[in-house]
Amino acid sequence: MVTHDSRKKTGRYWDEYVETLSDSEIQALQFYRLKQTLERVSSCGFYQKRFKEMGLDISALECLEDLSRFPFTTKQDLRDAYPYGFLCEPKERLVRLHVSSGTTGQATAMFYTQKDLESWADLMARCMHMTGARPGDTFQNMMGYGLFTGGLGFHYGAERLGLLTIPAGAGNSKRQVQLMRDFSTTVIHIIPSYALHLMDVMAEMGVDPKRDLELRIAYTGAEPYSEEIRQRIQDFYGVKTYNSYGLSEMNGPGVAFECPEQTGLHIWEDSYLVELIDPDTLEPVREGTVGELVLTSLRREAMPLIRYRTKDLTRIVRGHCPCGRKHRRLDRIQGRSDDMFIIKGVNIFPIQVEQVLMNIPEVGNNYLIVLQRENNVDQMTVRVEVTDRTFIEDMRHLQRIQKKITHELKGELLVTPRVELVEPSSLPRTEGKAVRLVDERKL
Ligand code: COA
Ligand code: AMP
Ligand code: ZN
Repeated sequence: MVTHDSRKKTGRYWDEYVETLSDSEIQALQFYRLKQTLERVSSCGFYQKRFKEMGLDISALECLEDLSRFPFTTKQDLRDAYPYGFLCEPKERLVRLHVSSGTTGQATAMFYTQKDLESWADLMARCMHMTGARPGDTFQNMMGYGLFTGGLGFHYGAERLGLLTIPAGAGNSKRQVQLMRDFSTTVIHIIPSYALHLMDVMAEMGVDPKRDLELRIAYTGAEPYSEEIRQRIQDFYGVKTYNSYGLSEMNGPGVAFECPEQTGLHIWEDSYLVELIDPDTLEPVREGTVGELVLTSLRREAMPLIRYRTKDLTRIVRGHCPCGRKHRRLDRIQGRSDDMFIIKGVNIFPIQVEQVLMNIPEVGNNYLIVLQRENNVDQMTVRVEVTDRTFIEDMRHLQRIQKKITHELKGELLVTPRVELVEPSSLPRTEGKAVRLVDERKL
């Protein structure tokens, strides 16, 4: 049996002991950590109340399957308990805060202890090591820093692994290319739609990445993308591209990651317990069929979550991976079971758009969000019906109203939409549930 003492010796794994545990060893570790996690969450207000209402006794947990008796946690639960309702640690032990999506009653806050940051950085280092990144590589991180988890999550992992890390952040496209050239960047982290846009920027600058740059590895995630887009990125940049999956509620990135076989994303089962359910019946789906991913964090201290409904649709890839890691693989994310959409790596719920619009007096009753990819740039257009009064009396001030709506939406959503004002009652009406979103981007 491989022991902790022999880890890293072969150089193939970041943590050989954990990465090559057998199925039964993984399950035993999960059971041990699940018990610890349940004990931990029973000190937080939300779970304490829920468990009591359901008459749940943690000491009666005898096997992993018993978890199915415990309640799901949803994003709405997190919003309702915002900001501190899920905390399991006193404030003195917290060292980091991330906030995901929106401001108007939509925000969720995630807290981290020092140990949470350590184990997250370790997971990220494990992911990057798995793909062949090593000291000597230069890593350029083009994700948003700040409240997004993608920036700092990869940053700390890369430093832990010993990569020369450039915290480039999002935007400033020409500077990104300049940095790649000046510092011989070999590894990049980039949102797939931005990688498409950067191709045009490079063409404009006369830069051919295969000739002028030394890129060899790209990490892409934060939004769904197809195999075709992966191929385009690989062909243009001359890199091998690895799919990276994570969500703020489970630390951030580093939940599941592709290995060099590129046959699915290994989900790190020592840290996350996986269930796949039918989003309508909430019953487990058969292994291999598509369902909604439900995750329980097993190592988080500040804010562990039990049976968190990610709303992401995927399936388990059957069988073991030729790379030798026993942690099961997820297929690429196929969509969502709710109406959230992602543009430029930013998550948006149509209700956020609605809440902003309905607080503006010149706005009528109807609107439509249209997502398009124009010349490799993702664009969000919001068509807004104005009120009859605005249409008759206020048309002279159209530009002012348009600017105001754009400004308010940008403040709430973080991306800048294109706002088109249209006549009252001119947007198509549908029978039944109103259609608020048309996504014309080809994934
Ligand atoms: N990643 C990085 N840069 C991006 C981007 C993306 N997904 N999408 C656009 N950009 C660039 C643009 O090319 C532009 O730079 P340039 O003018 O030098 O070419 C700059 O950001 C502003 O673009 P614009 O389309 O006007 O911005 P916006 O106001 O609609 O959105 C962003 C602002 C891009 C900064 C915001 O969408 C963002 O921070 N995205 C990254 C989110 C992220 O990191 N998510 C990870 C979650 S874990
Ligand atoms: P956030 O909470 O802001 O970190 O966003 C997490 C969400 O981004 C996930 O629930 C997914 O919907 C989406 N996401 C993250 N990584 C990927 C990926 N590799 N492929 C598809 N969607 C992703
Ligand atoms: Zn593998």
